Amino acid sequence: MRRKRVFGILYQANNTAYRYTVRRGSVSAHPLSACRERLPQGSGSSKRGLVKTRDLALRLLMNLKIRHSIRESYDRIAGEYARRIFDELEHKPLDRELLNRFAAQTAGRGQVCDMACGPGQVARYLHNLGVNVFGLDLSPRMLEQARRLNPSIVFREGDMMALEIADRALAGIVAFYAIVNIPKQSLPVIFGAMARVLEPGGLLLLAFHVGDEAIQEKELWGQPISMDFFLLPPVFIQYQLEAAGFKIEEVIEREPYAPEVEYQSRRAYIFARKVLS
Ligand SMILES: C[S@@+](CC[C@H](N)C(=O)[O-])C[C@H]1O[C@@H](n2cnc3c(N)ncnc32)[C@H](O)[C@@H]1O
Repeated sequence: MRRKRVFGILYQANNTAYRYTVRRGSVSAHPLSACRERLPQGSGSSKRGLVKTRDLALRLLMNLKIRHSIRESYDRIAGEYARRIFDELEHKPLDRELLNRFAAQTAGRGQVCDMACGPGQVARYLHNLGVNVFGLDLSPRMLEQARRLNPSIVFREGDMMALEIADRALAGIVAFYAIVNIPKQSLPVIFGAMARVLEPGGLLLLAFHVGDEAIQEKELWGQPISMDFFLLPPVFIQYQLEAAGFKIEEVIEREPYAPEVEYQSRRAYIFARKVLS
């Protein structure tokens, strides 16, 4: 018998629902019969629709693979990451100052999410300033560290690419190095999701490494990893945030702190507010 694996995903494209079949690594898309009448008329356009949809399916599959590698990699390094990074804010005065400003504008105004929280050092800093903050991360082992180190903060497993948070539920999002492993083409999905879950006027504070390159690491702290690290141009990120429905309030850049404090890259921080609509 031929081996066939059906991807249980329905995707909406050309106003049509499709089911994906993955066989020996290649993906094909089949319009569901109930929806077939909604396919564009004419065989030419139907084929084009199918090809376009197959491209979307391939991209979806790629995203799933990338997400799987990221989760596995952070699961492997979670203990060491917590040991090395949890106290980092003690040595980063600018980061503390920016978080103080973020806290002053979000405390008492509703829930705040520390997105891709890692071991929760940023969530803890904000919690100590009276912010109603919870952490969200993809990596279960990283979340174990976060819960161990911060028993009075709630941490949830979740994916920034498919946020299970209600529309307009949050007063703020802090996302320090959350996008460091995310390919550029996936950023609109993440920024779109952030805009969706923020209330109008809600505040985002994003931190990332400045540059325009991808660094491929096969090993970190003695553990094998399989993910890229992206350095990003601030102008590109500003543009992406504006396209997702944010107004940029301020962009701050700094040189790296000493090598014993952090990786030697220039850093950028963006305060952006979801536009009132
Ligand atoms: C470089 S660490 C940053 C952790 C923490 N924010 C900090 O500043 O130290 C990146 C974190 O993003 C998480 N992450 C990566 N992709 C994610 C996704 N799609 N959804 C949620 N978390 C994700 C990883 O598990 C990891 O904990």
